[in-house]
Amino acid sequence: MARLHLNKVHKRYGNVTALHDVSLDLDDGEFLVLVGPSGCGKSTLMNMIAGLDEPSGGRISLDGRDITELAPAERDISMVFQSYALYPNMTVEQNIAFPLRMRKVARAERALRVQQVASTLQLGHLLGRKPRQLSGGQRQRVAIGRALAREPRLYLFDEPLSNLDAQLRLDMRTQIKRLHQSLRATIVYVTHDQIEAMTLATRIAVMKDGVVQQFGTPHEVYHRPANTFVAGFMGSPRMNLLRATVSAGDGGPWLQLGGGARLALPQAGAALSRRGTDAVIVGVRAEAVALLRDGAAPAARRAALQARVDVVEPTGADILAVLDVGGQELTARLDPEVSLHSGQIVAVCVDPGRVVLFDARSQQRLA
Ligand SMILES: Nc1ncnc2c1ncn2[C@@H]1O[C@H](COP(=O)(O)OP(=O)(O)O)[C@@H](O)[C@H]1O
Ligand SMILES: [Mg+2]
Repeated sequence: MARLHLNKVHKRYGNVTALHDVSLDLDDGEFLVLVGPSGCGKSTLMNMIAGLDEPSGGRISLDGRDITELAPAERDISMVFQSYALYPNMTVEQNIAFPLRMRKVARAERALRVQQVASTLQLGHLLGRKPRQLSGGQRQRVAIGRALAREPRLYLFDEPLSNLDAQLRLDMRTQIKRLHQSLRATIVYVTHDQIEAMTLATRIAVMKDGVVQQFGTPHEVYHRPANTFVAGFMGSPRMNLLRATVSAGDGGPWLQLGGGARLALPQAGAALSRRGTDAVIVGVRAEAVALLRDGAAPAARRAALQARVDVVEPTGADILAVLDVGGQELTARLDPEVSLHSGQIVAVCVDPGRVVLFDARSQQRLA
């Protein structure tokens, strides 16, 4: 187990900059998920940590020891890749024991570790098989088992589930989470799947174009995204982002959304009203939008928005209603029992405590 410290890690390939001064601090036992679109630098960062490639600048340390110049084998790190190469001629048992044999671990201890790993990953009945006799999910479990056989300071997983089908991904996700709970190991995990990131991480680093956009807990990243990119990337459905201007008067200040639609300016944005008609982006999660109830208080009625129902998408657990508010799209997550149809006019309210504001120019969060 270990603390990982990245200080301004930079990587250039010719004239492509794959990483821009990435700095991250990870405590012992944390589960860091690196998430972001394809090509944003996730694997490059993993390769720097593992020592498979050299940074152009910056330092990496593990438990206070600078490992930037160390060979991979000297770093005490175990890694699982997306394309998990098992040795085809070895049994499952031999595959799992292989890293231990390379490190000259005694036979009795090797056998014990293999038993422990096999029981954690429910591979006991497969130990005598060859990789070709296993399903994709079983092979992936063996690859993870091989990484777990050793007890390194740090585990690195680079999109370990991306070759699996949807149901298996879900099962494996739960297994990996359980594994982390029982091992209390420090893990860095790469995915481009933002739901995987939300469910597994103790902390998330959202990356784009080699730059860490936000480094925070899943809760922070979801509720208080640092910018509109993070807001749009994390969560399903993505956060609603509506253009607005701030205006005073008429009992305001208000966020004018266009077409006469307006929201009360949340307390957190109070300073904005003094700046006049600033252009802002209003961020609202779908679950912060609700239908105005019959018998709602007059204040709630005044704050409600008129919306036209555009598309209704039942998901089973709830309904996602895509609404048109003054010409802009607003998705609401609603009770599955409400009956809505396309074209219907409804009144909705937005929880002001759950609104976040972004500067329209910089796209960074204001409040
Ligand atoms: N060995 C390399 N040589 C040149 N460019 C590379 C190399 N490895 C990665 N890149 C570039 O660096 C960027 C980040 O790639 P990568 O880290 O693989 O992204 P991700 O894992 O997030 O999909 C991409 O633009 C990619 O083309
Ligand atoms: Mg990658």
